[in-house]
Amino acid sequence: MPDNASSPLFQPTRVGAIELANRVAMAPLTRSRALKGDVPRPSATTYYAQRASAGLIITEATQISWTAKGYAFTPGLFTEEQVAAWRPVTEAVHARGGRIVTQLWHVGRISHPSLQPGNARPLAPSAVTPKGQAFTETGFQPHEEPRALELEEIRQVVADFAHAASMARQAGFDGVEIHGANGYLIDQFLRNGANKRTDLYGGSIENRTRFLFEVVEAVSQAIGGDRTGLRLSPVTPANDSNDSDPFPLFSHAVEGLNRFGLAYLHMIEGATGGPRDVAPGFDFQALRRAFRGPYMANNGYDFAMADAAIREGRADLVAFGRPFIANPDLVERMKAGAPLATPDRETLYGGDEHGYTDYPALAA
Ligand SMILES: Cc1cc2nc3c(=O)[nH]c(=O)nc-3n(C[C@H](O)[C@H](O)[C@H](O)COP(=O)(O)O)c2cc1C
Repeated sequence: MPDNASSPLFQPTRVGAIELANRVAMAPLTRSRALKGDVPRPSATTYYAQRASAGLIITEATQISWTAKGYAFTPGLFTEEQVAAWRPVTEAVHARGGRIVTQLWHVGRISHPSLQPGNARPLAPSAVTPKGQAFTETGFQPHEEPRALELEEIRQVVADFAHAASMARQAGFDGVEIHGANGYLIDQFLRNGANKRTDLYGGSIENRTRFLFEVVEAVSQAIGGDRTGLRLSPVTPANDSNDSDPFPLFSHAVEGLNRFGLAYLHMIEGATGGPRDVAPGFDFQALRRAFRGPYMANNGYDFAMADAAIREGRADLVAFGRPFIANPDLVERMKAGAPLATPDRETLYGGDEHGYTDYPALAA
């Protein structure tokens, strides 16, 4: 009998100011079930409470403003109504001894005019149309050419991140995770496939990392660096993201983050939800060593991989995404070495309680 329960994965830890019961994080998972006004539906409280035995829950990506939206039915956290709708979620998770941060999101060009205020073009570093399609209220539609942000608009987006972070604390979240991954706005500024600017925000690595650092600084000032995490995905091709030379770019980014005393750095190692392979010359462990703070690993982990990563010092925490969808009690199942349920693909995005709050725990 393997004694999974004694794994260091299940030992308490701390990320910045946040004490965690174990080293298992629930990765951010968009479920596209928000209601009018981009408020989480009431059953989001049940959904997150069911998963509160994770050491840390990271919510689904959550908009910081109306222009930040890129998918139908995703929630926000910048109006009083949204704060009020999130509060029962954080209270229910805390009542079960869990901790929860919200993932703050601006999608940039990965959007569609039908999701934008006044049907305007989505905002981006540069007017470069991404490949792929947007998930709109009337189905999939091709992405359109975005509009390059003006300098004063960049300042506004930075302020919107800080505002949403303050709102997150008002709603009872333990902190926030800044979404710098998966080809959304921050990642678009970082990578030269999407960033063609010739001003202070484009060209050199120093310039392309400027927006990231400004957001991290503003959020850290608003709620404390020790309650601020950051997610990056240096080699993912998700949402048409690409860069001609990612390792020096992300090395510079990680070095520069050290001055903020962040709660944690969350890395998607490989293609998001796909192969963990990286090109020769790219080294996640070198980035981990360069970062002075807790390192959260993600992408394709199972118990054995996560256990080994913690034991061998390759990660401080491990985030599980897809396994949490159909296994609300993932921590207990991994401890017991119990089989895992498989999520139903049809109900991943959109819909109601079915495929959302009706996956049973093992004991049930
Ligand atoms: C249904 C679904 C929704 C997702 N939504 C988000 C999201 O909102 N924010 C994010 O950063 N990643 C999102 N991801 C990526 C996951 O957080 C995670 O990186 C990916 O599933 C790989 O981890 P896993 O192998 O443990 O599932 C999503 C993935 C899935 C399957």
